[in-house]
Amino acid sequence: MPSEPLTGAKAHIDTARALAATVDDIAADTPRKTIAHVGVLGAGTMGGGIAMNFLTAGIPVTIVETEQAALDRGVATIGKNYAASVKRGKLTEDEAAAAMARLTPSLRFDDLGAADLVIEAVYENMDLKKDIFARLDKLAKPGAILASNTSYLDIDQMAAQTARPEAVLGMHFFSPANVMKLLEVVRGAKTGKSELATVMEIAPKIGKIAVVSGVCPGFIGNRMLSPRQAQAQAMLMEGAAYNDIDDVLLEFGFPMGPFQMGDLAGLDIGWHRDPAKIETIRDALCAAGRWGQKTGKGYYDYDEARQRTPSPEVKAIIADFAAKQGLAQRAISKDEIRERLLYPMVDEGAKIIDEGMAQRASDIDTVWLNGYGWPAWTGGPMYWAAHEGLGKIVSGLEKYGLPVSPFLRAKAEAGAGFD
Ligand SMILES: NC(=O)c1ccc[n+]([C@@H]2O[C@H](COP(=O)([O-])OP(=O)(O)OC[C@H]3O[C@@H](n4cnc5c(N)ncnc54)[C@H](O)[C@@H]3O)[C@@H](O)[C@H]2O)c1
Repeated sequence: MPSEPLTGAKAHIDTARALAATVDDIAADTPRKTIAHVGVLGAGTMGGGIAMNFLTAGIPVTIVETEQAALDRGVATIGKNYAASVKRGKLTEDEAAAAMARLTPSLRFDDLGAADLVIEAVYENMDLKKDIFARLDKLAKPGAILASNTSYLDIDQMAAQTARPEAVLGMHFFSPANVMKLLEVVRGAKTGKSELATVMEIAPKIGKIAVVSGVCPGFIGNRMLSPRQAQAQAMLMEGAAYNDIDDVLLEFGFPMGPFQMGDLAGLDIGWHRDPAKIETIRDALCAAGRWGQKTGKGYYDYDEARQRTPSPEVKAIIADFAAKQGLAQRAISKDEIRERLLYPMVDEGAKIIDEGMAQRASDIDTVWLNGYGWPAWTGGPMYWAAHEGLGKIVSGLEKYGLPVSPFLRAKAEAGAGFD
């Protein structure tokens, strides 16, 4: 990572952040709703953290689960997190106690009826979410905002379950939701201006940086992550060392690479648990007991200090996997790795702008800087792309046989940046 930021990067980040708070077609005098009471559905990983944001800001929260054990677990985690904040000197004991006192745990769905804003954070399953929105429509008070924390799913389909689609939008928090700054606010086809303006205004009050996204799979951030992940997997099969892939991103300034991230999160998450059924490298690693940091080994071997060492066993598993698929492996340079990881993200970002899913290129920078650890020295992916040279990015993508969107090509030919 260079020690000097790109020219203008620091000022760009500040301007981008201020600009992200404005929604172009919403007048300053659009009426805001009062959010005096929040309902959160689901007290899992996300629901608990989402609730904490409001509790800390002085807004009472009712959190609803279907089972007592899950509710107790969720509330206990919130309590533990507040205790840790007190220990670190971030909150006084009284402030933490006051925040906890604003929390009402419940097993009754009907208790969400008093909320001005309901945020659902149940499992990522469209049928379940549709059912939840149909039920919320019958029960939420008139004028309430109904939000989903979905990572990928279509907000418009959820809105269609209600007789008040203007009330529905996405509030996509990032994990851990009480810590991460980014909030993607997903604007559905029928989301009301007043509802959107209200959520954009409440974001800074709960310590978040809000960016508006249109409805598309993965919204702005996860949509751009997909081509990077696809290239990481493709290069693995072509013979790149996975530690090189992680190291390229670390050297660029990311806090972590994709394989380190997998080890940290746990490779067994979502695994089918049948060691005989091996369809992916991940299946093979799980079958070998390599579940990530929690078992002391995943893609890497870990020592007591959690220092990672690339594993010869894993390299053999990958080579064997590629051989079974008839793929020849070759050495891949770090330059190629960097370009194949980052250039397709720029192309996806260009499509996001072209489709109007982001209001402006700098919003994409704000998303990636605050939600995914994109290094600040670059000013963000789209700012960095203009410095790298859009022409260079287009020819790089072509060299690797990767798609180039018409919008990116046109911008490159015009010799311009994005905004
Ligand atoms: N984990 C992440 O990193 C992350 C990040 C951003 C968004 N999301 C999204 O947030 C949502 C929740 O994810 P999570 O990681 O917190 O999942 P999780 O499994 O940790 O929690 C989901 C909770 O919802 C509860 N639940 C299920 N059905 C319910 C119902 N009908 N009523 C009330 N509670 C119900 C479950 O008991 C569980 O406690 C998903 O849509 C996910 O895509 C997750």
